[in-house]
Amino acid sequence: MTEVVRIDPVRPNPADMARAAACLRRGGLVAFPTETVYGLGAHALDRAAVRRLFEAKGRPASDPLIVHVATMDQLAGLTTTVPDVARTLAQQFWPGPLTLVLRRALSVPPEVTAGLDTVAVRVPAHPVARALLEAAGIPVAAPSANVFSRPSPTRASHVLDDLDGRIDMVLDGGPTPVGVESTVLDLTLDPPVVLRPGAVSVEALRAVVPAVQLRAARPHEGEEAMASPGLLTRHYAPRTPMTLYQGERASVQRTILHSAHEALTAGRRVGVLATSEQAAALRSLPILIADLGSEHDVTQVAGRLYAALRELDAAELDVILAHDLPQAAGLWCALRDRLHRAAARVIQASQP
Ligand code: TXA
Ligand code: MG
Repeated sequence: MTEVVRIDPVRPNPADMARAAACLRRGGLVAFPTETVYGLGAHALDRAAVRRLFEAKGRPASDPLIVHVATMDQLAGLTTTVPDVARTLAQQFWPGPLTLVLRRALSVPPEVTAGLDTVAVRVPAHPVARALLEAAGIPVAAPSANVFSRPSPTRASHVLDDLDGRIDMVLDGGPTPVGVESTVLDLTLDPPVVLRPGAVSVEALRAVVPAVQLRAARPHEGEEAMASPGLLTRHYAPRTPMTLYQGERASVQRTILHSAHEALTAGRRVGVLATSEQAAALRSLPILIADLGSEHDVTQVAGRLYAALRELDAAELDVILAHDLPQAAGLWCALRDRLHRAAARVIQASQP
C-alpha cells in the first residue's frame, strides 16, 4: 500500500515530515515534491534501499541517481574534493535546480552512481524537500518519481499513476513550481559541461562561469559512452508514437493540418501538442489538443509540458503530432530538449 499524505507546500507539517523522514531512514521509498518535478527518495547510503528504488522504477542499473542533501556542508561526505567552482556555483544557485557532478567519495555506494567514479548532488529549494532532508539528516538519492522512460511527474497523481503500490509514501504538495528537471553540470570536466539542460539556464550559468559548455542535445545514433544516460535519445516518452514537426511556422502548421486530415480520414484518433498560438488553426478539427499555454509564457509551458504528454498518452490515441517550440533561449532550451527526446521521430516541414 502506498500512503498518500497531503502536505502544505509552503509550511509543511513537522509531524508529517518526521514520519516521512523515519520511513526513509528505515530504507523506505518516499516520493516528494521538489521545485522541478517529484522525486522518489531512498536513503542514499543504504544499498538495499537504493536497489529497491531501481526496481520500483524499472530503471536500468546503468543510470546513476542524483543525491539530494539539505545543505552544502554535506558535500564533503559525498565527494573527494570540492573545487572552488563548485563552491561558487553552489553559493549562487543552491538551494535550487542545479545538479553538480563531482568526484565520488567511497562512502557513496556504487549502486547510486551506476559504478561511475563521479556523483551527482543537489540541494533542492522546495520547502517540502528541504524539510524532509533536514528531518531525515541523511543524503537522499532521488530520481524523478516516474516509471523509467515515462514523462517526469509534476503532480502527485502522476506519481500514483506510475508507482501506486510499489512505494511506501507520496507527499502530495501540489503541482511542482518549475515543471522540468534540474540542470546537470559536470564539474569533473574542464571546462564544465552541461550534460542535461534544465531549470537553470545555460545563460545563467555562464554569467557565473563563462566557460560552461553545452553538450550536443541529441547524441548521434550509436554514440557510445553516454556521459549522462538521461541523454538517451528516446526518453520522457509517451507510449503513443509522437511525431515532432520543426521548421518555419507556416510550413509546420500546414504540414500538421495535412497530416491530421489524412489520419482522421483513415479513421485514426489524433492528438496534437502545441502552444495556444500554434493550436489556433486546428480548433475546428475533431482532435484532442493538449494546449501548452501561450508561447510568450515559458513558465506556463514548462508547468504543463509533462502533464500534457501524460494527458495525450492516457487518451488512447493512434498518433500524436507536435509542433516544435518556437524559442530556444533560457528555459525553452530544456523544454525543447525534452520534447525532442519524447518524439519517436522528427520531421522537417518544408516549403510548399
Ligand atoms: O530535477 C531533478 O533533477 C529531479 C528531482 C527529483 O531532483 N531528479 C531527476 O533525476 O531528474 P533523474 O534520475 O530522473 O535524472 C538524473 C540525471 C540523469 O540524466 C543521470 O544520468 C544524471 O542525472 N546523472 C546522475 N549521476 C550522474 C553522474 N555521476 N554523472 C553524470 N550524470 C549523472
Ligand atoms: Mg528521470
